[in-house]
Amino acid sequence: MATLVTGICELVTNDPAIGDGSPLGVLRDAAVVVEGGRVAWVGPATDAPAADDRCDLGGRAVVPGFVDSHSHLVFDGDRGAEFAARMTGRPYDGGGIATTVAATRAADDDRLRALLGERVAEMRRQGTTTVEVKSGYGLTVDDEVRALRLAGEVTAETTFLGAHVVPAGADRADYLDLVTGPMLAACAPHARWVDVFCEPASRHAFDGDEARAVLAAGRAAGLGLRVHGNQLGPGPGVRLAVELGAASVDHCTHLDGADVDALAGGDTVATLLPGVEFSTRSPYPDARRLLDAGAVVALATDCNPGTCFSSSMPLMIALAVREMGLTPGEALWAATAGGAAALRRSDVGVVGVGGAADLAVLDAPSHLHLAYRPGVPIARALEL
Ligand code: NIG
Ligand code: FE
Repeated sequence: MATLVTGICELVTNDPAIGDGSPLGVLRDAAVVVEGGRVAWVGPATDAPAADDRCDLGGRAVVPGFVDSHSHLVFDGDRGAEFAARMTGRPYDGGGIATTVAATRAADDDRLRALLGERVAEMRRQGTTTVEVKSGYGLTVDDEVRALRLAGEVTAETTFLGAHVVPAGADRADYLDLVTGPMLAACAPHARWVDVFCEPASRHAFDGDEARAVLAAGRAAGLGLRVHGNQLGPGPGVRLAVELGAASVDHCTHLDGADVDALAGGDTVATLLPGVEFSTRSPYPDARRLLDAGAVVALATDCNPGTCFSSSMPLMIALAVREMGLTPGEALWAATAGGAAALRRSDVGVVGVGGAADLAVLDAPSHLHLAYRPGVPIARALEL
């Protein structure tokens, strides 16, 4: 059955060949035909073809559904007190991850599934239609497999993050052998990606050599590569990610000139997570410098109980505009097409014929309101 979506005062397609010729491909007074979960037609409302059904949005803006390419949604437990302590000056060092690991291991499957489902629904209510979900709060073979199995019930973008931290009480070298050996072998069938928290500044995380070993093993097991890099201080994560052709290196908070050059010259997306800087009182990454150098930039939430317990892509857009030097259009692109690039997907993050019919509706006349009205829930995924 085909549905004609009308009443779109502004449509952002992210296809520069459509509409105003800008990277956002903006079309005014537009219509979209959706059939079988795919976009079947896009164009001016006056040219719209007939369809079986009609959905009138009453003069709202429509943008591609947000692509949140970085989240840690499979967890139990609460770390509100850690956040409060941070707001009085305690720095973040990754040590609190152990608290979440203990709570997550103790939760049964049904409870974790319910928590995960609620978080994905919360995202949809705010316009997110694609989400990547990492493991990393299990850190045993069985607990990591379980996290990925549950993640696979809600998304195709599943990431094995056994190399999140060395678990409490474990020997570092032994744990690395486990992560690159039996744990990877058990997890790879349930994952699309492998990720590593490469952060020499944290005694809990992994240095450049360790991260390289994790990524090499993951690649040999057939997984695509992602990296948590340069979050807490300068380090080798960004350059390692680019050297190995990772799809994305995420955080990028502390970059030197060589890191920026590497990102500009490679095809690794720089995924910025401004909710983390907001929630850890850290300086924001210099998104303007990255874009001006020619790097591809994505925005994601990193939704997790430690460094950013926000599922809101509109908040990330607002922060990127207010704190990181992006225009509202650049920030929207980064939160949609940028996220798709970070996941190496061409079927999402755009509104185009043949692509997924993942649309976000705004209770607003234009996409500018995503940054202009921070904290106001104007975006939702269109449910047809
Ligand atoms: O992406 N940096 C490492 N991992 C997460 C935080 C995990 C936690 O503190 O629970 C992040 O920020
Ligand atoms: Fe993360």
